[in-house]
Amino acid sequence: MGDFALPEALLVALRDVRSVGVITGAGISAESGIPTYRGKGGIYDDPDEGDRTVEALSAPTLQSDPDRTWRALFQIAGAAVNARPNAGHTAIVEIERKAERFVLLTQNVDGLHRLAGSRNIIDIHGDAFELICMSCGKQNQFNDPRTGATTGQGLDIHRCAAAGRAPRCPCGGVYRPEVVLFGEMLPEDKLRRLYAELLDNPPDLVISVGTSAMFPYIVQPMLVARMAGKLTIEINPEPTEISDFVAFHLKAKAGDALPAIAAALPNRV
Ligand code: OAD
Repeated sequence: MGDFALPEALLVALRDVRSVGVITGAGISAESGIPTYRGKGGIYDDPDEGDRTVEALSAPTLQSDPDRTWRALFQIAGAAVNARPNAGHTAIVEIERKAERFVLLTQNVDGLHRLAGSRNIIDIHGDAFELICMSCGKQNQFNDPRTGATTGQGLDIHRCAAAGRAPRCPCGGVYRPEVVLFGEMLPEDKLRRLYAELLDNPPDLVISVGTSAMFPYIVQPMLVARMAGKLTIEINPEPTEISDFVAFHLKAKAGDALPAIAAALPNRV
């Protein structure tokens, strides 16, 4: 356990927790060296450049100019491919190990939760390493050098990024990433799991960490848990839309606060 001290009232409340939901955003990967989207140094920080990136990462641009979409994606996946899980990711694995029931809802497409060893993950925005051909529907992936899978059947992300254009399927079609672009619907199967695991039956504890909580499907599980009398915690150095209604807003870095919470939770399995 690190030096981060949790409030006494929170330590007491954590003793009764059996089931846990964790919701993560780009902030949890900031300590792994991946830029966030919003805020200082974020991908959308410069308003003009940010607008251009949002446009590049949109469904219409993918159709009209997939090379442009991919150049933006290579920026995101390129930062991820060099990153390793940090203390925050590892603490979430420990929380899952201790809980009777656990779900992780992440907006991140960097694969770091998967790499850290989290199991019950709803990656609601997808995974930047997974590909699907827009012509024939065949699935493929980038080999993930972080898992040692550099000689697999997949594509070499560095080579594709250096080419600076959309990767191609053997059928001649263009691959798209299995991520949700602006203007696209969320995947139905993942939404169904979100409803079942976080809304229909809210866990005893729901933690929101490293997200600016811009989207209703991120805010809602926190609201529902709070209304149902469950324990809610936000971990974020900055205030967000949800700071005022969580039971505890820890103004801290994920890598400091999450290990303290993991250590304070009782073993339930
Ligand atoms: P944002 O970039 O909007 O927010 C990151 C949050 O993390 C901010 O509130 C920061 O204050 C906080 N933060 C920064 N460093 C932190 C640290 N070390 N520990 C804890 N918190 C920290 O990222 P998201 O909320 O994930 O969507 O953005 C949501 C979605 O918007 C993304 O998934 C992406 C983007 O458009 C799509 O691409 C569909």
